[in-house]
Amino acid sequence: MALTKMSPLLKKAQAEGYAVGSFSVANMEMVLGVLKAAEETKSPAILQIAEVRLKQSPLEVIGPLMAAAAKNCSVPVAVHFDHGKTEEKIKLALELGFTSVMFDGSHLPFEENAETTSKINALAKSFGADCEGEIGCVGGSEDGSENIAINCTSPTQAKEFAEITGVDALAVAIGNAHGNYKQAPKLRFDILEQTAKLVDAPLVLHGGTGILPDDFRKCISLGIHKINIATATFDSVEASVRNAYSASAINGYYDLQQAEVDGAYKNAMKHIEIFGCAGKA
Ligand code: 13P
Repeated sequence: MALTKMSPLLKKAQAEGYAVGSFSVANMEMVLGVLKAAEETKSPAILQIAEVRLKQSPLEVIGPLMAAAAKNCSVPVAVHFDHGKTEEKIKLALELGFTSVMFDGSHLPFEENAETTSKINALAKSFGADCEGEIGCVGGSEDGSENIAINCTSPTQAKEFAEITGVDALAVAIGNAHGNYKQAPKLRFDILEQTAKLVDAPLVLHGGTGILPDDFRKCISLGIHKINIATATFDSVEASVRNAYSASAINGYYDLQQAEVDGAYKNAMKHIEIFGCAGKA
C-alpha cells in the first residue's frame, strides 16, 4: 500500500532540496507509464487530474483507477485533484480516496479566495487529506480553454494567504503559464525567493511544460517542491504513438497501448531526473 498523503512527500522534498513531480493523467496507460518511471527510479510521485478534464476522463472512473494504481505501487504516491473549481467535485474526489485536493480561487478577490480555500482545507482535513491553494494567477487554464493573464504573486499576500488558510502547499505565479510556451518563460526568481522566505508551506510550480531544466533547478533551490506537468505528458504520449506508427511498430491494439505507456514513462523519467527526486522514495 503506497497510496500516501501529499504533505509528507513535500515536507521531505523541502528538507532535502528537491521537487516531487505531479503528473497529470487522462487514462490507465498514462498512470502505468508514470508509476513505472517512479518505481524504476525509486522516486515519490503525485498523480493528478484537473476538474476541467473530467469531461474526457470521468472522475468516478479514473479516480478509483488512480487510487488503486497508487496502492499497488512500491513507492509512495499521492493522488491529487488539480484545479478544483466546485465543492461538489472536490468532495467526490475525497470520497474516492484522493489524498490531496486543490482549490483554485486565483481568479477571485483575495478575501473570497482565502475564505473558500479555508473551507475546502477543512473539508480535506475531515477526510484526512491535504489541500493546495493558489495566490496570484498562473497564465492560461489547465486545458487551454481560457486565456487567463499572468498575475504574479505578491509575497506579502502569499504569507497572509498561507497563514489564514493553513494550506499544505501553495501554488505561486512567477511568470509561468499552462500549456506550451511560445518561448521559454522569463521566470521571476526574485518573487519566488521573497515568497519562500515568508511562507513555510512548500511552494508549487504550475505550467511545468517547456520550462528549461536549469530554470527548474533554480526554482527548486529557491523553494519550489511540487512541479505540475500536464501538456508534456500528453505530447509525449501522442508523439510516441505517432513515431511507432511511422516505424510500422504498431500491429494491433496492444502495440498502440504499449506506445502510450512508453510515452508517459519517457516524459516522467526525464522530469524525475531534473527534479532530483530519484532515489528519494
Ligand atoms: P502544463 O500543461 O504547462 O504542464 O501545466 C500543468 C499544470 O500546471 C497543471 O496544473
